Amino acid sequence: MNEISASQAYRLLEPGPIVLVTTSLEGAANVMTMGFHMMIQHAPPLIGCVIGPWDYSYQALRKTGECVIAIPTVDLAETVVDIGNCSSDTVDKFERFGLRTRPAKDIAAPLLVDCLANIECRVADPSLVDRYNLFILEVKRIWIDETRKEQRTMHHRGDGSFTVDGGTLDLRERMTKWRHLP
Ligand SMILES: Cc1cc2nc3c(=O)[nH]c(=O)nc-3n(C[C@H](O)[C@H](O)[C@H](O)COP(=O)(O)O)c2cc1C
Repeated sequence: MNEISASQAYRLLEPGPIVLVTTSLEGAANVMTMGFHMMIQHAPPLIGCVIGPWDYSYQALRKTGECVIAIPTVDLAETVVDIGNCSSDTVDKFERFGLRTRPAKDIAAPLLVDCLANIECRVADPSLVDRYNLFILEVKRIWIDETRKEQRTMHHRGDGSFTVDGGTLDLRERMTKWRHLP
């Protein structure tokens, strides 16, 4: 085996789906791209997200404690990258990228109509934000577009290249220890 730099761990472990995060601050909605996220707990469902203070969205999330995590599919690939390469302090990304929105049910941040899933979240624990820019979010609601033809998610390899979701392996019969999970 060849050793690579410890700093490259994210290149191996990041590949959950790339997501879009919407926020809304004082009536102004915003959207950014995010790859650094992880599930933390089943019940209540908690997600950890790293959103840095260099992002305009950071202040909105800190101040409002609310966001939507939207999961795009491969048909939105270029848009997803472009959203993550410009900032809402200089551009209205919804207008520039023609993003269609719908109001969420419990929070002010909008849902993204053209995404496969939208997850309404509230910050459950801000104690790691100052140290790691790590927001612990609790999932409040999930909206799925089951009519969507394109279902393949994109998985960021850390450098602007992506793995695209492919076939599935069904090994549910072997998950004997975890049958109780919903
Ligand atoms: C593929 C990709 C993944 C990204 N992942 C993250 C991330 O996990 N956390 C983060 O803070 N920024 C991430 N970014 C950068 C933000 O999306 C970017 O800084 C964006 O301009 C922030 O928008 P805003 O200033 O309007 O909030 C990513 C960008 C790309 C293109």
